[in-house]
Amino acid sequence: MAKKKIGVLTGGGDAPGLNAVIHSLVRACHSMMDCELVGYKFGYRGLYNNDFMPLTRDTTSGILHRGGSILYNSNKDNLFNYDVVENGKTVKKDVSDVAIANMKKEGVDTLVVLGGDGTLTSARDFARKGINVVGVPKTIDNDLPSTDATYGFDTAVNIVTDNLGRLHTTAESHHRVLVVEVMGRSAGWICLHAGIAGSADVILIPEIPYTMDGIVKKIKERGAAGRPFSIVAVTEGAIEKDGSAVIGKVVADSPDSVRFGGVAAQIANKLEPLIDYEVRHCVLGHIQRGGDTSPADRILSARYGVKAAELIKNGEFGNMVCLRNGKMESIALEDVLGRGAMGETSAGGAKTVDPNGELVSVAKAMGISFAD
Ligand code: F6P
Repeated sequence: MAKKKIGVLTGGGDAPGLNAVIHSLVRACHSMMDCELVGYKFGYRGLYNNDFMPLTRDTTSGILHRGGSILYNSNKDNLFNYDVVENGKTVKKDVSDVAIANMKKEGVDTLVVLGGDGTLTSARDFARKGINVVGVPKTIDNDLPSTDATYGFDTAVNIVTDNLGRLHTTAESHHRVLVVEVMGRSAGWICLHAGIAGSADVILIPEIPYTMDGIVKKIKERGAAGRPFSIVAVTEGAIEKDGSAVIGKVVADSPDSVRFGGVAAQIANKLEPLIDYEVRHCVLGHIQRGGDTSPADRILSARYGVKAAELIKNGEFGNMVCLRNGKMESIALEDVLGRGAMGETSAGGAKTVDPNGELVSVAKAMGISFAD
């Protein structure tokens, strides 16, 4: 087999585990084939600008545990609809051919794309144009259909669980209610998992619209039972019955144009006049994606990196690596988007929590309220 030249990029937002995938991919590729790897900086933007760095055992040494991406991230650079300045005006253009010409010029014959749905959609589109592409799914939200788990999720759940524990002790000391906002967009996975692990009293997820009465009822019940403090864990995209999600901001230049934020503050403001306790809120925000990657995510990432190397070695392009029933497998990029996996309900293409599923039942059996 001729020496391969493999380009790697990390698109979308950062997630713990990206560096661990790069780390294992580089090592597995070198052990499986004669190859050279380069990493494009800032996702697809690096491909457009031909801005890359060598990825060797040396340049990827010591990154296994680190969150973020040594290749940096961008969630704004869709090369099929890219901002280009022409005659002093910014216009949207398909510049994918520029990226392809750059790859050809450098002799890059394979592209490994680490990212979520937006990044993988572009990966599919490059595959349609004849590029040898392998996708590796990423998101802390764990809402990608076609794979049972994405790296970053376990780390986020650990961080949220740890923080719920910290907030518990202060809530208990002051006899307060703490409303804690966690990430997840329209999927409640982080909130549900961390809420159970971190002993939240109320869990609010977008898949189960809540009522203020439901939250008040649970807090009053706890008070009457001698527990005058409560933790309410709320997903940023949670929805009040007959209401809509609280939007922080709409940003035009991003595929995820909706920036969530503010639901915890809104609930806290509404809640305080309805109960006898002081109510405070806390937004965990990007803390959930920062710092070191959890051991479970490092292992999952290592498996993804090695499987991606296998696909390259076998010439199985146009595919994304995925985890199904505990096994590393692959799926055509054409089939990745908009499909439910493992029996979850699908909303808008995302893998969301089944309101009648086992985990919700477990939480309810433990006395956790969904305020529905
Ligand atoms: O999709 C991952 C995620 O962390 C969401 O949970 C969150 O809504 C979003 O990204 C935040 O994105 P950004 O960092 O671009 O604000």
